[in-house]
Amino acid sequence: MRAVVVTPKKPGSGRLAEVPDPQLREGEVLVRVQQVGLDGTDAEILEGQYGEAPPGDDYLIIGHESLGRVEKVMGGATGLSPGDRVVAIVRRPDPVPCRNCAAGEWDMCLNGQYTERGIKGRHGFLAEFYTESPDFLVAVPAEIAPVAVLLEPLSIVEKAIEQIKRIQSRLVWQAERAVVLGAGPIGLLAGMLLSLEGIEVHFYDATERGIKSDLAEASGANYIWAGERKLSHELAAEIGAVDIVVEATGYSPLAFDAMDMVAPNGVVCLTGVSGGSRKLEVSADHLNLEMVLSNKVVFGTVNANRRHFESGVRHLLEIEARWPGLLSRMITRRLPLTEFARAFERSPDHVKSIVEIS
Ligand code: BGC
Ligand code: ZN
Repeated sequence: MRAVVVTPKKPGSGRLAEVPDPQLREGEVLVRVQQVGLDGTDAEILEGQYGEAPPGDDYLIIGHESLGRVEKVMGGATGLSPGDRVVAIVRRPDPVPCRNCAAGEWDMCLNGQYTERGIKGRHGFLAEFYTESPDFLVAVPAEIAPVAVLLEPLSIVEKAIEQIKRIQSRLVWQAERAVVLGAGPIGLLAGMLLSLEGIEVHFYDATERGIKSDLAEASGANYIWAGERKLSHELAAEIGAVDIVVEATGYSPLAFDAMDMVAPNGVVCLTGVSGGSRKLEVSADHLNLEMVLSNKVVFGTVNANRRHFESGVRHLLEIEARWPGLLSRMITRRLPLTEFARAFERSPDHVKSIVEIS
């Protein structure tokens, strides 16, 4: 079959290749891939920053944001039938397993020996087919099929917001206002979930007005262009106390500004993967004092488990009902397999690029 592969850690080795078809085993299903979304992680794998081939292979099929249709079910695989639309979960528990992986919370793996499809030690989905156990497949209803390729990025946001709520159960809390840093796919989806909860959302983004501000505003949020405002106490004084900051740019200096400007008892949630080695001088005493005297929390979050994909399915339905068509407007570029590389051409006019396979 055809697949997009890389030679891990070799910059620029991304290519469309002919690879062996996956072997369907007992208890598994064969999935025909329909769409794959591409993101910053894929870009970094193509740049050779990380990525790991499965044992015995010298290449890695990339792609971890998928939507497909069940083609064939092997004896013993229950719960799915040919024709069902499915999205695959990305991470697999480590073989030990650690106490989190043993409990199905592999997104909280302790020993780093987990694997991730399309990223670390397992092939991904940017191919014509893949095989998988139903344990790692989530069925999606037909109504949301046109936007279900967004379920994997949404699962990241589902986990982030679940964690915010769990952490904030430490106090009597009623969040009224959130600032989302970055109006890319993760940021926009976070803003939508927060809006669904009745929280006032402000986006803060380095891109001048355009598609991102259009989408943000269509979800009822406010859009602040970073080119004219600094993320500061003054900004917070203007828009009102900020209870939640979700960082979704990966531009690490913003994390420190966020810790400073978030309101007393507030929470800063970091989701951006910063691959670089940027150094920064920070007002350490001031930040420490702010955090202590105002009971602030800052935490990081990565990946998602089955529960987050399932709540994501419910939220895709809710988002579609609340803002019809908004999710599909986020998909700004649809490419054939042969043109996958164009997904990584940077442009302020694009939010989410996907490859359409079948
Ligand atoms: C994926 C996550 C993954 C993370 C780190 C993200 O792009 O969505 O599932 O855990 O990269 O590999
Ligand atoms: Zn583990």
